[in-house]
Amino acid sequence: MSIKCRFCRKAVIYPEQRLCVDHLSKFIEKRVDKVLGKVLGLEEKKILVTVSGGKDSTGLAHIMALRDLNMELLYLNLGIPTYSDASQKVVEDFAKARKLKLNIITLNDYGFTVKDFHEKQEEFRSNTCSLCGSAKRYLFNKFAFENGFDFIVTAHNLDDFASFAVMGISSGDLRYISKTASVSWPKKEQKTVGRIRPYFHVPEKASLIYSLSNNIPFFEGDCEYVGGNKQGDIKTRVAELERVAPGFRQHLVKFTRKSGTPETTAPKSCDSCGYPSAIDSCRFCRIKERLR
Ligand code: FES
Ligand code: ZN
Ligand code: ZN
Repeated sequence: MSIKCRFCRKAVIYPEQRLCVDHLSKFIEKRVDKVLGKVLGLEEKKILVTVSGGKDSTGLAHIMALRDLNMELLYLNLGIPTYSDASQKVVEDFAKARKLKLNIITLNDYGFTVKDFHEKQEEFRSNTCSLCGSAKRYLFNKFAFENGFDFIVTAHNLDDFASFAVMGISSGDLRYISKTASVSWPKKEQKTVGRIRPYFHVPEKASLIYSLSNNIPFFEGDCEYVGGNKQGDIKTRVAELERVAPGFRQHLVKFTRKSGTPETTAPKSCDSCGYPSAIDSCRFCRIKERLR
């Protein structure tokens, strides 16, 4: 006998919570609204939703577009040969179909691409994904700040945050996850735009089924540099642990957030670009310098 939804007895599409297609949508949208509700007067804020073209980003942008918000989209073309142009096309079609304003920026405008990091990752002593992540964070913030946005919205999900927590534990550095919350507030004096992470409590599988069952288009390919990426391996193992011990991801994120030590050093800014940096020159400017 097939399993029935715990609310309406229709066929289950998301077995982890015993939900049918409609109740899965309600489950996700409720979690998104709970996070959005933390920002008072959100309707008056200028919001930039970053979209990579992947299932989480278009699914979340779809939900955000159904709300009465002053929002635009941002796509960053990273110059990844088998990924960037194809995912950009998906995002362009997505935005056009919903009449959403789409901003496009390219890493190449700064003189390099992710392919260049990849070819020089040994010299950087850092893997491609980590360099790429730094470039994304930097450029999202810079674009948003320079264009008067109050908040950036990203579609990282619960599995992402749980794997960031494991990475933090394994390296003995909980700084990132201890500072990460579903909402971070703008700090204009530090040239930092606020962040909203509406999928903070949304499991990756729920996001995938939501996008598929609501016919939300997304780019299905993976970035070609993802192979051998530590975070990907950790994510797979976190999902296995969640199966054995339901609730593991949520508790892990909660505990690691509590265990972080508060920032004691005064925030600095980069000598070259003026954006926040822990040392004299920010990581983005150092990457740019080295690839020059
Ligand atoms: Fe950044 Fe793959 S998307 S390295
Ligand atoms: Zn139902
Ligand atoms: Zn800089």
